[in-house]
Amino acid sequence: MNKTKGAYEKLHDLSRHIAILSSVYQLLEWDQETYLPSDAIFHRARQIETMASLIHKEKTSARFAKALQELIDIETGEILNTNLSSAQIAALKEWRRDHLKTVKLPSSFVKTFAQTTSQATHIWAIAKKTNDFALFAPYLEKIVNLCRKKADFLGFKEHPYDALLDLFEPEMTTSFLIPLFSKLRISLSELLKMIGTQPIPSDSFLHGEFSHARQMRFAEELLKAMGFQRSSSRLDESNHPFCNGIAPKDTRMTTRINPDALMNNIFAVLHEGGHGLYHQDLPEDQYGSPLAESISLGIDESQSRFWETLIGHSLPFWKCFYPKLQKEFSEKLSGIHINEFYRAINIVRPSFIRIHADEVTYSLHIILRFELEKALIEGQLKVKDVPQMWNERMRDYLGISPQDNSIGCLQDIHWSMGAFGYFPTYTLGNLYAAQIFEAFERAYSGWRERVETGDLLFIRNWLASEIHRYGRQFTPHQLIVKVTGKALSEAPYIHYLHRKFTALYHLE
Ligand code: CO
Repeated sequence: MNKTKGAYEKLHDLSRHIAILSSVYQLLEWDQETYLPSDAIFHRARQIETMASLIHKEKTSARFAKALQELIDIETGEILNTNLSSAQIAALKEWRRDHLKTVKLPSSFVKTFAQTTSQATHIWAIAKKTNDFALFAPYLEKIVNLCRKKADFLGFKEHPYDALLDLFEPEMTTSFLIPLFSKLRISLSELLKMIGTQPIPSDSFLHGEFSHARQMRFAEELLKAMGFQRSSSRLDESNHPFCNGIAPKDTRMTTRINPDALMNNIFAVLHEGGHGLYHQDLPEDQYGSPLAESISLGIDESQSRFWETLIGHSLPFWKCFYPKLQKEFSEKLSGIHINEFYRAINIVRPSFIRIHADEVTYSLHIILRFELEKALIEGQLKVKDVPQMWNERMRDYLGISPQDNSIGCLQDIHWSMGAFGYFPTYTLGNLYAAQIFEAFERAYSGWRERVETGDLLFIRNWLASEIHRYGRQFTPHQLIVKVTGKALSEAPYIHYLHRKFTALYHLE
């Protein structure tokens, strides 16, 4: 018995050491996106490369493999010890999953990948700023090739894209996504068409001059209401908002302040705050084990979208927060009724930028990206033809086409980071969120009244007890069945959108 406990704890100790190294790596990345002087980028690339290879070395070390092999057969997945709890057994399976992914990638490959993507991220930022796709193209070319190589190293049954997808959404496959996304695209297009027959509400009062300091102050207030404390989290600014759950009690979130558009920052903060709560509510005593990590990017994104859209775009939420917002920006909002504001923040209108897209058009942006990167990996699409194909699909799905690549195929950081297979997790996040929200509504039929009073903590607690506290004890599929009683489908999302926008746009 003692020996059993010893073996598990030995593995956890080794893994905790790796987690600490990873937290240093994440800190370098966070700094690169927030405060790093631009001339320091090439040295930063060296630092990141060094850390990545150090982490890779630890993960692939003989002693780690030996510690793991004592508890679970790495080859077959058979649990070799019967005295473990079901949570520990689940952790071992996840450790093995990670281990197999890691050992399949040679150290030299990991090093090249980290170096290339670090430089590419920097170049992408310049290319986006100067609308210069040709500047970024050679880097994208390199990255596509590296991702293809990566898929080969990792191995796959049906499609090379499966290997990349699996890195972010375990057990998700291209063949599952194709019909799911196709059903979704058809439903969304129909809804978009119906909405398009109605006049667009006015939102001019959400544009103009909004003080930077006041916007930051309101953002901090929202995070406080969600339950964040300044002693264990930060909010900074970056080109592309993100959340980095660096370590327990150290959650870094960023936003982007647009002085001309009031809601961009607010929704970014609710979104990153949703990610942040997931990380804050993971069990701290399990730090370093899979039981203290988020399940997948899709599940992680379901938490951000839960707060940003299902709560943050709802009328009960704004019944509490709109008077506060009016007070902060009284010169623009004092004469605007809450119903007018509610319609304005829920305008459905095809637009170029994914992160500012409304709930109906958002997934169409994702489906487009999924199709493009799948085609790049397959070799069906050449890098030089990306802008053209992007613009064509935008016209097909959203009826608009960007003049500049800056607001087209250069808008997102993901490809420069080598994160092929990542985009679908955004839409999966929306689908998971809507399905989880149905379960939440069953548990709290009076949620509206509570949220109207500014009480958000019961939502945080429900998500923590249903999802966050388990870490990776369940796979995405197991979790969604556990919480909602059903496997993932597009139906709850479509149902939610229909219910909401039929009322908002008087479609019946
Ligand atoms: Co997110």
